[in-house]
Amino acid sequence: MQFLVSRFNPERDDKPRQQSFEVETWRGMMLRDALLEIKRQDESFTFRHSCGEGVCGSDGVNVNGTNRLACITPVSELNAPVEVRPFPGRPIIRDLVVDMSQFYNQYRAVEPWLVRKDPMPEQEILQSPEEREKLDGLYECIMCGCCSTACPSFWWNPEKFHGPQALLTAWRFLADSRDQAEEERLDALEGPYKLFRCHTIMNCVEVCPKGLNPTKAIGHIKQLMLKNAI
Ligand code: FES
Repeated sequence: MQFLVSRFNPERDDKPRQQSFEVETWRGMMLRDALLEIKRQDESFTFRHSCGEGVCGSDGVNVNGTNRLACITPVSELNAPVEVRPFPGRPIIRDLVVDMSQFYNQYRAVEPWLVRKDPMPEQEILQSPEEREKLDGLYECIMCGCCSTACPSFWWNPEKFHGPQALLTAWRFLADSRDQAEEERLDALEGPYKLFRCHTIMNCVEVCPKGLNPTKAIGHIKQLMLKNAI
């Protein structure tokens, strides 16, 4: 099977180029296996990966135009030639490796931790099963970046728009009955960019390897803002 992979060495190249590799495929082969085979053919080829189980979120790439995790993408699902590029809209460090700093900055900006104003109880902060259920579909995010780097609003305003991943996280804490910083969290999202730059394009929903729905989370935040404003 033919693979066209993006190559970029900042010490040598002005811009990325596609390089062709022939890889023998087998039943059950994942894209990560194919990339490892390409690395065996040319050890200078560079990409990130770790767990191989769709858990660590480190091997997100753009495959035939769609952001996916290489380790859980069956090669049998892909049309040849398989074009593998780095995530769009991020500065390329080398080959398929991009600089995700801005993505992590946006994540940090939503203060992704529980804020308590009441004194902490001696043991755990209790939650009813219904309250806990509200976090389903939110806490499972593995921060692979497939969603934010598929979002045109994030490509154009990576420093101002939080992006789908960070906004899903913002809602994960707003929806948590144990958190006590609703007002501060909503205030911090005011303005034309951080939240409201989402134009409901929904690329994020299509590409999330965990089946999460950042657009819905963003809608919930907007509704809560409206409710509090009335
Ligand atoms: Fe960890 Fe793919 S290698 S998610």
